[in-house]
Amino acid sequence: MALENKLGLTSSADLAREEERISKKKALELFESGELDKLKAGTFSALKAIHKYLFDEIYDFAGKLRTVNLAKGNFRFVPLMYLEAALENIEKMPQSTFNEIVEKYVEMNIAHPFREGNGRSTRIWLDCVFKKELGKVVDWSKVDKVDYLLAMERSPVKDIEIKHLLKNALTDETDSREVFMKGIDHSYYYEGYTTFKTEEL
Ligand SMILES: Nc1ncnc2c1ncn2[C@@H]1O[C@H](COP(=O)(O)OP(=O)(O)OP(=O)(O)O)[C@@H](O)[C@H]1O
Ligand SMILES: [Mg+2]
Repeated sequence: MALENKLGLTSSADLAREEERISKKKALELFESGELDKLKAGTFSALKAIHKYLFDEIYDFAGKLRTVNLAKGNFRFVPLMYLEAALENIEKMPQSTFNEIVEKYVEMNIAHPFREGNGRSTRIWLDCVFKKELGKVVDWSKVDKVDYLLAMERSPVKDIEIKHLLKNALTDETDSREVFMKGIDHSYYYEGYTTFKTEEL
């Protein structure tokens, strides 16, 4: 069964296809309009705005905090009870070096503020921070999706793998729309691996 959505779709395959199509269209608009550069990089309000922009046509919860506890595999994301406090603390984390930025990204993934679409919106948010602070972005075409998911699965325990993957994929091409759009490629193809599938607790 599909997540409840504004499109009235009930099959998860149909929803996955439409969600991908619409969120990519919206991501491109967001990039081309220059709106992304106006957001305050590294804040939760920036992430919220990105999520709302990408998913507003699809979900009522676009840009809104989740109201359920979530897990993927054995990993439980921040419990609802602590979510708002966690987001305030993450926002205050420093972001002036590569390591600090990735550590902040890892914490934002652990918070997993939205019911769905955290990966895509948080990768854009990460690129905004890299662009503002280091004048670089991630060329996601250089990051193998399975390696990325394995590194993210591992990241709450040890962040060395995700740091390694991202460090090798940084590029100066901050204005390339091809490079930007690669980050919005959805990795649901791999949701067959149960550790990457979202569960409501
Ligand atoms: N087992 C895991 N433990 C911790 N984090 C995980 C795990 N599996 C996946 N993740 C993270 O969760 C993200 C997916 O979250 P979500 O499904 O809300 O967003 P999405 O936009 O649908 O994802 P994506 O496009 O990344 O597949 C992944 O991009 C990864 O960063
Ligand atoms: Mg997902």
